[in-house]
Amino acid sequence: MSDTQTNKTWGGRFTESTDAFVAAFTASVDFDRRMYRQDIAGSIAHARMLARVGVLSEADCTAIVSGLETIRAEIESGTFEWSVALEDVHMNIEARLTARIGDAGKRLHTGRSRNDQVATDVRLYLRDAIDAIFIELRRLLAGLATQAETEAATIMPGFTHLQVAQPVTFGHHLLAWFEMLKRDYERLLDCRKRVNIMPLGAAALAGTSYPLDRVYSAQLLGFSAPAANSLDAVSDRDFALEFTAAAAILMTHLSRMSEELVLWSSAQFDFIDLPDRFCTGSSIMPQKKNPDVPELVRGKTGRVNGHLIALLTLMKSQPLAYNKDNQEDKEPLFDTVDTVLGCLRAFADMVPALRAKRGNMLESARRGFATATDLADYLVRKGVPFRDAHEIVGKAVRLGVESGRDLAEMTLADLQQFSPLIEQDVFAVLSLQGSVAARDVLGGTAPNRVREAAAAARNWLAAAELP
Ligand code: ARG
Repeated sequence: MSDTQTNKTWGGRFTESTDAFVAAFTASVDFDRRMYRQDIAGSIAHARMLARVGVLSEADCTAIVSGLETIRAEIESGTFEWSVALEDVHMNIEARLTARIGDAGKRLHTGRSRNDQVATDVRLYLRDAIDAIFIELRRLLAGLATQAETEAATIMPGFTHLQVAQPVTFGHHLLAWFEMLKRDYERLLDCRKRVNIMPLGAAALAGTSYPLDRVYSAQLLGFSAPAANSLDAVSDRDFALEFTAAAAILMTHLSRMSEELVLWSSAQFDFIDLPDRFCTGSSIMPQKKNPDVPELVRGKTGRVNGHLIALLTLMKSQPLAYNKDNQEDKEPLFDTVDTVLGCLRAFADMVPALRAKRGNMLESARRGFATATDLADYLVRKGVPFRDAHEIVGKAVRLGVESGRDLAEMTLADLQQFSPLIEQDVFAVLSLQGSVAARDVLGGTAPNRVREAAAAARNWLAAAELP
């Protein structure tokens, strides 16, 4: 069949060939051929089920299964010829099957439509993609837990409004990232449950008159159940929406992490060293070492957010059941999968290789009056109401700003001008180590709590449900 002839798969009622441009415009094979493995798996399960219920002979079933396996090998070895005239992955494979095995190939589509076929393929594809994402996400989570343990006592400034707020430990910061990604893990796990429902057997929209055993085909394909309603099964793509929403949140987290890595690797912060292999240089400025990987991850977040909006808009006005609009679900979905996988892989490789510049982090925490709250709390313990303590410390900070000294660098006499209750023991409170050690509460930044939390994180990961 040449690429300009009427499509023989459905051409019976047509009197003229499809316009060449329209054929190319409506075809999806250029992008949906990526689902060839899922399409073949779905067809093999469908054929086996048809044979089991007696709709297909065993001989036809055997011919179909081995024909499809040969086609898979052809595709993988690059000898398969894809044709735009055959529209999509489904008809390309079916036409090739019929060319190879004759009439048995034409019987495969019994009790099935491309509508339930494509919905099945997309779900199988996405299930595989989520499983691949879990591998990279787990690698990243493990790297964060290990780094957090190593940096449990590393002091850095904690920020609010990007102004120095209170000292924290770097391990604590890394575990904040861990928590963000742990929720992404759980979101994807939950999403996967709704992905893993089988549309096959819904046929075009109403079900089919053949006595299909849908529970059996679901079992063969590893689906948890057949879809309960045929109209819904062929029409909704909310599982793809849900995945893309979870992916957009995950990317938002990676983007926030990226932003911090970019800031921290600047000369102004100089908190971390990103190994050279994750950076690139400038063609004009010889001194440059640019944090390209986190920058790119931050940038790629935009495209995933865009895909989410594209899919939401794709669905919003569709009447039941299948509409050709749904063909537009694939490119945003595929690109979301590629983007998330690539970004996670880069991060999983990069995080264990990050080196904290501990001295610089500590030095930075010494500037910015990070222990001002500790001084206020000290006065509260001596009976001063918190609001008054806040005022007293505010004045001490003003002296510090004017004289270019941190609170810990002032003399006892300096500090006593602001309150006679301040005594020699204040210096333990004003030390950064004392400040973080004091935050010894569940979820707090004290090094022993961070070590505990890192161990808990690792245990969670070891026990976390796998798809
Ligand atoms: N290529 C189509 C898609 O991606 C397959 C289903 C086509 N069904 C139809 N009735 N035209 O959605």
